[in-house]
Amino acid sequence: MNDKAPIHTPVMVQEVLTYLSPSKGDKYLDLTAGYGGHASAVADVAGKLEQMTLVDRDSSAVAALTERFGAVEILHDDFAAASEKLASAGRSYDMILADLGASSLHLDEAGRGFSFTRSGPLDMRMDPRQELTAAHLLNHSDEQELGRILRQYGEEQRARVIAKAIIAARPLTSTDQLAQIIENTVPKRFGRKRIHPATKTFQALRIAVNDELNQLSRSLPLWGGLLAPGGRLVVISFHSLEDRIVKQYFKENAGDRYDAELTLLTKKPITAGPDEIVSNPRARSAKLRAAAKIKTKTKG
Ligand SMILES: C[S@@+](CC[C@H](N)C(=O)[O-])C[C@H]1O[C@@H](n2cnc3c(N)ncnc32)[C@H](O)[C@@H]1O
Repeated sequence: MNDKAPIHTPVMVQEVLTYLSPSKGDKYLDLTAGYGGHASAVADVAGKLEQMTLVDRDSSAVAALTERFGAVEILHDDFAAASEKLASAGRSYDMILADLGASSLHLDEAGRGFSFTRSGPLDMRMDPRQELTAAHLLNHSDEQELGRILRQYGEEQRARVIAKAIIAARPLTSTDQLAQIIENTVPKRFGRKRIHPATKTFQALRIAVNDELNQLSRSLPLWGGLLAPGGRLVVISFHSLEDRIVKQYFKENAGDRYDAELTLLTKKPITAGPDEIVSNPRARSAKLRAAAKIKTKTKG
């Protein structure tokens, strides 16, 4: 493993280690391996893993993982497709981690188009091989569809007004053009808000372009199935829409019911401590939930 300085600071590393509880000979599946911060911490604690499978849909992340980890199994795929393939190959793991969302690199690189604070193309694809971009959605969706995306994925109360302004300003090409259009929809009398008025729209577009919520809903049951008896699943989400899906899945599949396949390791979501939030502001919205696969099932 080549230990270069990390370019993305992983969140809640200690908490991830507590709930994954790595030990020698474990098999580890990291579904959002990114730049390998969590994966290297897990490998260090375990000493020797029997198997490490790293998944990411982003080609820059995959290149960085290949350089950092060398000969481990690295899958350049979205985690729903990768999980389906691993499940049909009959694979199972003692530890599964999904640290959802975008990496710092996505947000920091102007050319990826994720951030309204950086001027760039309206792209927002985590996987640059994908066809659908934010520009396509913005320039080709009708007003109703755009409004639905902003309301559903951004929980934007001003979805209709913003959708109308976007349609009137087409064609849209850049992040700063979109941010300005949204800013112009806010009546001057409201003054400056604590969060930028484009925040929710950018979140909504990113979720829609990358199909993030469907990816998660499709994958959770597969992850339950990929866990070996006694195996641990940790999911870190960064907004309430994702956390709601994880919470619901755990509620339906972990607990006292005779057919429950999981047991909850976290009753409430675990959040980052104040020191971590100061040093890594991304950690502020992180919520970690964990469950373990029940070892033996007694039916009846
Ligand atoms: C928050 S970062 C993870 C960082 C990683 N835990 C680390 O320590 O470096 C999320 C990563 O997951 C990837 N990702 C997000 N959604 C994905 C999906 N549906 N399938 C595969 N990769 C995904 C992103 O490309 C990004 O690299």
